[in-house]
Amino acid sequence: MKRVFSPHTLSTILIASATFFTACQQQSAPVPEKQSGTTVESEASSKTVTEIDSDGNREALAKKEAEEAALKEGEAIYRKSCQSCHSLSPPAKSAPSIIALASQYRSRYSKKAGAVADMASFMKAPAVEKSILGAGTFERFGLMPPVTLPDDELEKVAGWLWEQYDPDFEGGGDCQ
Ligand code: HEC
Repeated sequence: MKRVFSPHTLSTILIASATFFTACQQQSAPVPEKQSGTTVESEASSKTVTEIDSDGNREALAKKEAEEAALKEGEAIYRKSCQSCHSLSPPAKSAPSIIALASQYRSRYSKKAGAVADMASFMKAPAVEKSILGAGTFERFGLMPPVTLPDDELEKVAGWLWEQYDPDFEGGGDCQ
């Protein structure tokens, strides 16, 4: 498992990822929701571009500030309610690290909204059938206990988790 962290050659990376795919990842098809969010979100982002281009700068700025505030709150919720099990980056504690989870969500969902909704639903009532992770994760860590936080806090922490995606993170598996 450790060799994923020192991939000096492309083949090492490929072999290590293949190992993780077998050991830790589910072979399920991408979550169908992935497609449905596309139109809504692309409309939303083109609106933002228009706002910035025209004199709607103030509106765009307010939106950005609100997003940043939500991220800060999300991070605070993580520290309080998730950090005891989820380290930010590998090595994993008693659950996959946040960066590894973010990487899994980014590979399965194209849109943040759908990922956030499914994460929140999972946290409220975790179940293997809802998981985007593979069987190896449950063998190693067991199932996550339910999180008893209000919906808006679950969504904030899920939104924050989505943003922790690091394109340079090379771990292919969800057990890290
Ligand atoms: C008591 C330990 C514990 C705490 C606290 C905890 N988790 Fe987890 N979490 C786990 C374990 C173990 C897994 C891996 C197994 C699983 O997915 O159920 C997991 C998996 C996850 C997953 C992946 C879901 C999937 O598809 O399988 C997400 C997302 C997640 N946690 C987010 C959070 C967030 C956000 C918090 C804080 C609000 C949190 N967790 C608090 C133990 C914990």
